[in-house]
Parts: sequence; structure tokens; C-alpha cells
Amino acid sequence: MVGTFIGVGVGPGDPELLTLKAAKTLQAVDVICVPKSQLNRPSMALGMVKNILDERKKPVEILELVFPMTKDELNNRKLWVENAKIVADKAIKGDVAFITLGDPMLYSTFLYLYECVKETYPEIKLEIIPGVTSVTAVAASSKLPLAEKEEVVTIMPSNLTPTHIEEVAKHADNIVFMKCAHHIREFISILLKSGFSKDSTVALVKRCTLPNEKVLVGKLGDVGKWDISEDYFSVAIVKKSKVPIHWKQNGNGCGYK
Ligand SMILES: C[S@@+](CC[C@H](N)C(=O)[O-])C[C@H]1O[C@@H](n2cnc3c(N)ncnc32)[C@H](O)[C@@H]1O
Repeated sequence: MVGTFIGVGVGPGDPELLTLKAAKTLQAVDVICVPKSQLNRPSMALGMVKNILDERKKPVEILELVFPMTKDELNNRKLWVENAKIVADKAIKGDVAFITLGDPMLYSTFLYLYECVKETYPEIKLEIIPGVTSVTAVAASSKLPLAEKEEVVTIMPSNLTPTHIEEVAKHADNIVFMKCAHHIREFISILLKSGFSKDSTVALVKRCTLPNEKVLVGKLGDVGKWDISEDYFSVAIVKKSKVPIHWKQNGNGCGYK
């Protein structure tokens, strides 16, 4: 019987942020695919599901798939096609999960593999299990809301050109920078041209929900003084300034002046 290829979001790092559905799936599938940028590097996603795998009653095949982070589109496509064939050969015989950090539908290697399998092997069933994304995890760790009321929240990778960032930022109330957000210092002058101010609140979170998590929260004007080391696993939230609502009771019972 043909199996299902399942993209499983395993959350941002803390194994307790894995959904019940993800845990149940990982306990039941025949094969678990683990994406890696290099074969000899440990997989963060695999480490996060270790406890689940230790509790499994029947053994599982772990299939390491290498996806080097390169800008060589042709080579990348070749690798996705090769990896899709490896996945399909397994999924023809049983259920195959592909674990991915955060959510599978946000900047994930899974997306290309999913499209390739969908088009090339239409007989294989497909399923996606959402995960807690680093975006919401970072908002929780920094205690900064992503959006309220009519606010617009924009998510972007940190490697866009300054012109692109400036243009997009003009239309955003809150921005989430992903993929190497430690570059945040370079965005200060761009954001100041796009309606953000030195008082705009910024959070930079590295290794969110992991034991070595680092959270920095402050004003855009002060980011230049922050001690920021390079870290691919970093996300920044920048909020345009707004008049804060005061909740402390001041006589009329609701904090209104
Ligand atoms: C390829 S994207 C994957 C995003 C993922 N699918 C998600 O839903 O969060 C990798 C980027 O996600 C962010 N990221 C993922 N996990 C993170 C974590 N635990 N702490 C901080 N940033 C994280 C970083 O910006 C990193 O460069």
C-alpha cells in the first residue's frame, strides 16, 4: 500500500513545543527524513525529537538528506530531485515523515521537496503537520506582540537589499527579520528612513527556547551599543513606536487620562 509523505514541524527548539499530532506521527511512521546542510553535522531537528524516538515501540529508519545551503539553483534542483526519489522509494512502501524546524510552510527546505514529490510522484499522498514557528516563539520569549488591532506585520529574510527593506518597511507596523537577524545593526538607518524611530522597540532573540537562548530588548536607537555575535538562529522583531496604553487605575477605573 502506498504511504504518505508527511512534513512535520517540530517547533523552535524546546521539545515541549512539539505538537501532540507531531509526536503521534513520529511514533508511528516507518521512516524519518532528517534534513542536513552537511552530512557530518548534528541535526538540531533530530535532537528535538530524540525523546519521542526513544519511546518508540518499533524501530524507525532515520534517513539523512543533505541540502547544502548554496545559491547554485541548478545544483540545488538536482539535489531536490535526487532526494525526492529517495523519499518516494520509501513512501511507496510506507509512511515517511520529514522533520523541519518551526513550521514546514515557512522558509523550509521541506517546501521544495514537497513540490518535487507532488509533481513527480502523484501516487504518493501528502500531509503537512504545522509546528510552532520561531516567529511566534520569539514574540513569546521577548514578550513583544507581533500585531494588534489594524497593525500590519511583515516577515522578511535579513539578506534583502537595503532598498528592498526600506520599501517594505514603509508599509509595516511591525517587522520580523529572519535568517541571520544579527545583522540588525545594519538596518537601523534604513528603518529610520521608513517611518521607524530611535524609540521603536526592538527584540533580538537567538536560539529561542533552547537552553542557550539569548533575548535582547531595547530601543532601535540603542541597538548600535548591543553586543551582537553572529548567529544563523536569530530573529528580530522591530515595532514602530505607538502611544502605550496605561492600565494602572488612576481614579476613573480604567487607566484613561
Ligand atoms: C530556514 S528558516 C526556518 C524557519 C522555520 N521553518 C520556522 O517556522 O521558524 C531558519 C531561520 O529561522 C529562524 N529560527 C528558527 N529556529 C530558531 C530559533 N530557535 N531561534 C531563533 N531563530 C530561529 C532563524 O531566523 C533562522 O535563520
